[in-house]
Order: sequence, then C-alpha cells, then structure tokens
Amino acid sequence: MTPGRAAALLQALPLALADMELEREQETENPVPLPTFRGAALEAQAACDAEWILAGPAETGKTYAGLFRLDSLLRQTPKANAAIIRKIRQDMATTVLRTWDRIIALRGGVSRFGGERAEFYSYKNGARVYVAGLDDPTKVLSSELDFAYVNQAEQLTLSDWEFLSTRTTGRGAVTRTPMVFADCNPSGPKHWIKTRPSIRLLESHHADNPTLYDEEGNITEQGKRSMSALQALTGIRRSRYFEGLWISSEGAVYRDFDRAVHVIPRSQMPPIVHWVCGVDFGFSNPFVWQRWGFDDDGAMYLEREFYQTKTLVEDHASRITKLNQNFPIEATVADHDAEGRATLERRGINTTLAFKSISEGIQNLQQRMAIGANGKPRFFILEDACIGRDESLAAIHKPTCFLDEIEGYSWPVAADGKTQKEIPIKENDHSADCARYVASYFDHLEVAGAGNFAAAFGEPAVYWSDEDEGHGPGDAPDDEGRGPGDGPDEEWIQ
Ligand SMILES: Nc1ncnc2c1ncn2[C@@H]1O[C@H](COP(=O)(O)OP(=O)(O)OP(=O)(O)O)[C@@H](O)[C@H]1O
Ligand SMILES: [Mg+2]
Repeated sequence: MTPGRAAALLQALPLALADMELEREQETENPVPLPTFRGAALEAQAACDAEWILAGPAETGKTYAGLFRLDSLLRQTPKANAAIIRKIRQDMATTVLRTWDRIIALRGGVSRFGGERAEFYSYKNGARVYVAGLDDPTKVLSSELDFAYVNQAEQLTLSDWEFLSTRTTGRGAVTRTPMVFADCNPSGPKHWIKTRPSIRLLESHHADNPTLYDEEGNITEQGKRSMSALQALTGIRRSRYFEGLWISSEGAVYRDFDRAVHVIPRSQMPPIVHWVCGVDFGFSNPFVWQRWGFDDDGAMYLEREFYQTKTLVEDHASRITKLNQNFPIEATVADHDAEGRATLERRGINTTLAFKSISEGIQNLQQRMAIGANGKPRFFILEDACIGRDESLAAIHKPTCFLDEIEGYSWPVAADGKTQKEIPIKENDHSADCARYVASYFDHLEVAGAGNFAAAFGEPAVYWSDEDEGHGPGDAPDDEGRGPGDGPDEEWIQ
C-alpha cells in the first residue's frame, strides 16, 4: 500500500467508525446518510490533540464539522461530560445551537433539557453536553470536562482559553483524550490563536464545504450565492471572511483599540455617574442606539447597544423607552435627520444634535482609547453590550454591533499606498459615528474645538453649566438649510 493510500485510509477511519456506530443505532432508528467531509473538516473528525481549532474564512463548514466531531465523541464516550461554549451566552441560540440542533436531529437519540434556553443535551449512553457562555459561567465550567467545544474562539481572550484548558486536563474525565477544540474566523495577525504553540490549527477552505462545491470542485447554486456575498465584502471583512487572511486594517482609525484592554465584562464596570445615549439613524443601513455610562473619572462604558435595519423609528422609540426605564438619561445625542429626531421627540425622547466634526471627534475618541497615566484608557465596551443581533446583517457577514465595526473602521488608502487621514471610508461606520457623537457631546467638543457650532452659526448646539452635572438637551439649531461647515472635516448632512 502506498503511503498516500495509507494516510487516506487513516483519515477515513473515524468516519468508518461513526458509520458502524450509526448502523448499530439504525437497527432502531431511521437510516440517515453521513455528511460528506473534506479537507480540514475531515481531519477534524479524527483530531485528538489536547487543543485544536478549525480556522478559516466564513461558511467553510467549520462549525458543522466541529459539532459533528463533538457529537461523534459523545456517542463513543459513555458518561462523558462536555460543553458547547461561546464568549457571550445570548449569542448562542441563533448561531451555534441552530447548527447543533440540525446535527443531533440527523443522527437522533439525543434529548434536550431546559426551557426556551437550552441547558444541556443528554445521550442514551449517559453522555451529556452543557451549553455555556463565558460571560455567564454556569456550574459546568467549574467542573472537569471531557470535551470543551468553543464556537468563534477568536472572540475569547487567551485567559479564557487557558481557563478552558484547565477544565480539560483528564483528571476525573472518562475519556483518554480530553480536548478543548473550536472553530474560528481569522482575526489580527498577532492574535493568541496564531501564536499559541500548543494549538493545532486546521485550515479550512470554501472547497471543503459540500454545500458550496461538489466533489469535482464545481460551484453549486448555494455556492454561487454565498461566494458572491463574500466577494462583495470590503476592507478587513473581505480579507478575513472571503480570503481567510489573519490581517489588521492598514489604515485603522482606532489603531489603539485592543479587545484585551477595551472590552470588559459587565462585572468590571464601575459605578456610573452620567448616562448618555447616542442615535445614528438608518433604515436600509442600520439604526444604531447606544447607552454609554460615564464614571466619576469621565471614562466611558458602552453598556447597551442595538444595531437594527429595516425598522421604523416609531418602533425603535418604543424599544428605547423600554430599555431606558430606570435609567436617568441626561441626553440622547442624535445625528442630523430631522424627521427621525421629530419622531423620537414625539415619543418623549428628546434629542441633542450631534456635533459632527469628524476629525475632532475621532481624535477625541483616539485619546480616550490611549492608555493614560493611570495605566488605563477612558473608553470601554462591555462584552455583552449588544442585544438582539440583526440576523439579516449576520447572514451577509456585515457588522452587527460596534465591536464588529471598530477594527475595520479605516482611512482610505491612496494610490501611492499612503493613508488619507481626513475622512474615514464611509462604510460600516454606524456604531462608530454614534460613539463619536456621544463622546464629542460629553467632552464638550462643540465649544472647545475649532470649527465649532459657535464659529459657524454664532451659537452652540447645546447649553450646559460648567459642571458636568445638569447638562442636557438644549435648543439645537434647525436641520433645514444647513450647509457645509468651515473645513473639509465637517460632515453636516449624511
Ligand atoms: N459537511 C457538511 N455537510 C453538510 N452541510 C454542511 C457541511 N459543512 C457545512 N455545511 C453547511 O454549510 C453552511 C455553512 O457551514 P458552517 O456554518 O459550519 O460554516 P462556518 O465555517 O462555521 O461559517 P462561519 O465562519 O460563518 O461561522 C451551514 O448551513 C452548514 O449546515
Ligand atoms: Mg461558524
């Protein structure tokens, strides 16, 4: 036998074992064909390394293959304890658990426990798999696991991953091959996934996914749809989700932004002294609403956000009112959409016109993101701030929250390769704009900055006392008829 043939047989062995397992099950259950696996997805069906990750661009079949492997392991390991894990628990129902429910339905024999929110799944052999978010750790993550499966591992910090590896050491496990394994999309080039030597990376490609390409490598109808959506992406989203590159944006506006520094758990938010909301209007583009808390030092914390397309301002207003119950909101800073602002105001949400000088607003946020003398920045995002993911955006790999936008928010690059630091690329900038309005408002830029409202119109957009306390919505100038301001950085009407 040639070495190539032997390797192919070895690769196919786990599937053959799964087949035999299935045949046994099928004595009592309906026969089902096993899925096709190729490339990294096939390797994943045999991987036994203590730490391994399926990595690659979007829709290559990573989650499907990883979960199928988990299901096989649980069928082969009576009484095993496992967990399906993601950074944020609330993101699981519409993502990884959807694929999981399809996989267990395929082979049958698994019972789901928990109400609306799945808690665990149980196999006939006594194996169990729990569902857990690292933001909301249930008891299961403090006990020993045979297998831990992570969806979207790039969202984890290295210490999250190290924590999971201490849960899968083999002590008290029933398996001889405990493992923590995962799927991920590419992130920045220095991400811990790329630099941790103990991780075996399985590189996944679009041709691995049988729903996109057939056995001969011909693209399917689904493949045409998916690949054209991916091809249409721009910037780092295209590089990462279409090309599969671990890359940072060349011209990133917020270069100092670092998940490990600026993204924190809710439990680390200090007492809040001021609450300010921001709105960036949109219908085909997302409507973004954010609620920021400011501590007694003036540091800002994105505490809640929603990011939603194709919804009327009326409906957003009801949602905002509900979300703001019991919050003493000092101001809602909104962009220049007269009709949208009028609708919000009719529904009792007074708005303050945003100060829209882009370069000053960006410099202000950049300063907030820089590490100060106390070793900390003055800008944070709570890891679970965003609620109610817009699935229509997720389906086409568009950002669904500020955290999705921020790394790709970039300056244009000229033909000579130089970044042009005047106006960022006007795309996937909705949350970024909203955050800038709120920070510009709180930091009083419209008075302090050059090219301000006072210079342009003889009066500021907002009036407040000298203290931070008590500043609120003022008489904003009318939207109608406003022309461009006094510099290339002014962006008056969107
Ligand atoms: N081997 C397979 N057999 C059948 N269907 C598959 C297979 N691999 C992937 N699919 C289907 O292709 C689609 C994309 O797969 P999946 O969600 O696993 O991709 P992914 O690589 O995890 O994508 P993302 O990076 O966007 O999370 C899903 O609908 C999935 O059911
Ligand atoms: Mg996936």
